[in-house]
Amino acid sequence: MHLITLIPGDGIGPEITKAVTDIFAAAQVPVQWEEQNAGQTTFDQSGELLPQALLTSLEKNKVALKGPITTPVGKGFRSINVTLRQKYNLYQNVRPSKTTAGIKTRYEGVDLVLFRENTEGLYAGLEIWDEQNGIGDSIARVTVAGARNICRAAFAYAAKHGRKKVTLAHKANILKVPGKIMLDAAQEAAREFPQVQYEEKIIDNMCMQLVGKPEQFDVIVTTNLFGDILSDLCAGLVGGLGVVAGANIGDDMAIFEAVHGSAPDIAGQGKANPTALLRSALMMLHHIGEHEQAVKIEKALELTLQDKAKCTGDLGGSASTSEFAQAIINNLGK
Ligand code: NAI
Ligand code: MG
Repeated sequence: MHLITLIPGDGIGPEITKAVTDIFAAAQVPVQWEEQNAGQTTFDQSGELLPQALLTSLEKNKVALKGPITTPVGKGFRSINVTLRQKYNLYQNVRPSKTTAGIKTRYEGVDLVLFRENTEGLYAGLEIWDEQNGIGDSIARVTVAGARNICRAAFAYAAKHGRKKVTLAHKANILKVPGKIMLDAAQEAAREFPQVQYEEKIIDNMCMQLVGKPEQFDVIVTTNLFGDILSDLCAGLVGGLGVVAGANIGDDMAIFEAVHGSAPDIAGQGKANPTALLRSALMMLHHIGEHEQAVKIEKALELTLQDKAKCTGDLGGSASTSEFAQAIINNLGK
C-alpha cells in the first residue's frame, strides 16, 4: 500500500479529486490517501494558507496528488504552488499533451511533452516595487545549475522514452544572460545524449510553429514563464485545460497536478472535467511503479472519452463530473 498526500485544493479541486479517488477505489488501486489541504479553504477556516500539517505529510510521503489552489491577485499573497515547487526543489514541471481519440480538435497526431523549469526565471520572486518613482521590477533569475538540471532532465526523458527530438524554446536574442545560460545547458545535454536530435527556437516563432504544425515537435524544454504559457497553448491543441496532466518532480519528492487552475467560473456546479487530474494521477501511478493499474484506468478513460454523451461540457458532452467518473468506473476492465 502506498501512502500518498492528497491536497483537494480550491474551486473545482474538491470535485475533481473526489472523481479521482472514487475511480481509484473502484479500481482497487493500492494507495491510501492522507488528506491535507492548503489554500483559500484552509485560510478561511484557520487563517493558514499553507498549514504545517501538509508540509509534514509531504516530507513523510514524498508523493502527492494536488488539486488547483487559488492565488488571490494583487493582495500580496505568494502562490502556494510556487512556494511548494521552490521549497522542495521540484525543478521539473512535466506536461504531456497528446491527441486523444474521441476528443475533437483542429489537429491530429500531436504528441508533445513539455519540460518547464519550475523554480526559477520570472517566478523566482525577485520583485522590487519602487512606489515613489513608479517603477516595478521583476528579475528573471536563471542559474547555471538550474538550467543544467532541467535541460538534462528533458534529454534523459527523451532518451529513456525513445523520443526523437528536444526543442529548446528561448529568447536569447533579447534576454541575453538567462538565454545564454539556457543555450549552453541545452547544448551540453545534447552532447551527452547524441541519440536525441536537438534544435533551438525563439519563443515567439515557437508559438507560431506550434499552432501551425504541432506534430513537428516532440519534447520541449524551456524556462518557467515561457513554459507556463506554452503548456496552456499545448493544452489548447489537444482538447483544452480539462484534459492535460502535469507533474512537479524533484530528486526526492513529486507532486502531481493538472495544468489548469481552480476554475472559479464553473466551481461547485459539477461541470469540471476530471480527466486532467486523473491523467496526473496516472502519471503518479507510473512514478510509484504501479504501471498495470495506470494502464487499466487509462483504457477505461479512453473508452469513456469516445462516448461524447458521457463526457463533460468542455468536451461537448452533457455529463456532470460525477457522471463522467461513474462512466469511467463502468468501463474498468472492459
Ligand atoms: P483556470 O485554469 O482555472 O481556468 C481557465 C479556463 O479553463 C476557465 O474557463 C475554466 O472554466 C476552464 N477549465 C479549467 N479547468 C477545467 C476543467 N478541469 N474542466 C473544464 N474546464 C476547465 O485559470 P484561471 O481562471 O486563469 O485561474 C483561476 C485560479 O487558479 C487563479 O487563482 C490561479 O492563480 C489559479 N491557478 C492555480 C494553478 C495551480 O494550482 N496549479 C494553476 C493555474 C492557475
Ligand atoms: Mg499556468
